Amino acid sequence: MTGSRSPSSPTPHAARRILYGRRKGRPLRPSRKHLVQDLLPRISVPLESRDDAMAPALPGTGPFLDPARFFDSPASAADGPGNAGLAPCREVWLEVGFGAGEHLAAQAESHADIGFIGCEPFLNGVAALLARIDARRLSNVRIYNDDARFLIDRLAAGTLARVFILFPDPWPKARHARRRFIAADTLDALARVMADGAELRIATDDPVYLRWALAALVAHEEFCWIAEKAADWRDRPADQPATRYEEKARAKGVSPVFLVFERRPRPAPDILQRPQNT
Ligand SMILES: C[S@@+](CC[C@H](N)C(=O)[O-])C[C@H]1O[C@@H](n2cnc3c(N)ncnc32)[C@H](O)[C@@H]1O
Repeated sequence: MTGSRSPSSPTPHAARRILYGRRKGRPLRPSRKHLVQDLLPRISVPLESRDDAMAPALPGTGPFLDPARFFDSPASAADGPGNAGLAPCREVWLEVGFGAGEHLAAQAESHADIGFIGCEPFLNGVAALLARIDARRLSNVRIYNDDARFLIDRLAAGTLARVFILFPDPWPKARHARRRFIAADTLDALARVMADGAELRIATDDPVYLRWALAALVAHEEFCWIAEKAADWRDRPADQPATRYEEKARAKGVSPVFLVFERRPRPAPDILQRPQNT
């Protein structure tokens, strides 16, 4: 299913989206509070609020943002002697709902030439990622501390080379199904911002969510499941570290499933088409 939105305007219904789930937990310890006050503003993506996410344009940027530009200036705790910030990044990868950030920080550490954007509304999770960024002096991570859908709607088309949605909140009860992150409209939005051939990686340990996500993805004409054998969905991709929720699932004896979908190449423009006035 493809979206009916105009490619030049953000999703008109974005203002009606509701985020289910926690934004804050226990009070932050002082060192993390300090990171939230000092480091977070320096590595936040330049959308300050939901109002901003709905704005037709930021001054001088046009309606859509090129996420590679978020990495133009050195902005992290890693700024300092010998660190001139991130060189023009080769690709931008996005993680939706990074939890405590262990996967995102590990990926950022092993791919210094990739710019990483992490979206996470839960402040305590953001603070945990900030602590990892600070400890490892990572300069290639940017954070959006809100609902990923608002950010995705502001990104320019074809600008993300990889997207991770690892152990999304399952909302297994049928009456909560509309709260699930993976849904036709989110997949439309992701298909717009993902580059041709970009990977969408999903993991879940919930059988209800698995059926739901597979049905939505297989029905979506822009995505293609690249699994060829059982090991392709039973085993975590070798270059993808485990997350906290994967460890929780395995501790309970549950084996998660790993889905890797590819964004199909967009059709080439038909250069043989006759101009209409001849
Ligand atoms: C079950 S946890 C998984 C965390 C982590 N990915 C892991 O595997 O350990 C799901 C996370 O998604 C976040 N989340 C839920 N809805 C979201 C949304 N619309 N945008 C971004 N993150 C979201 C939640 O705050 C939560 O931290």
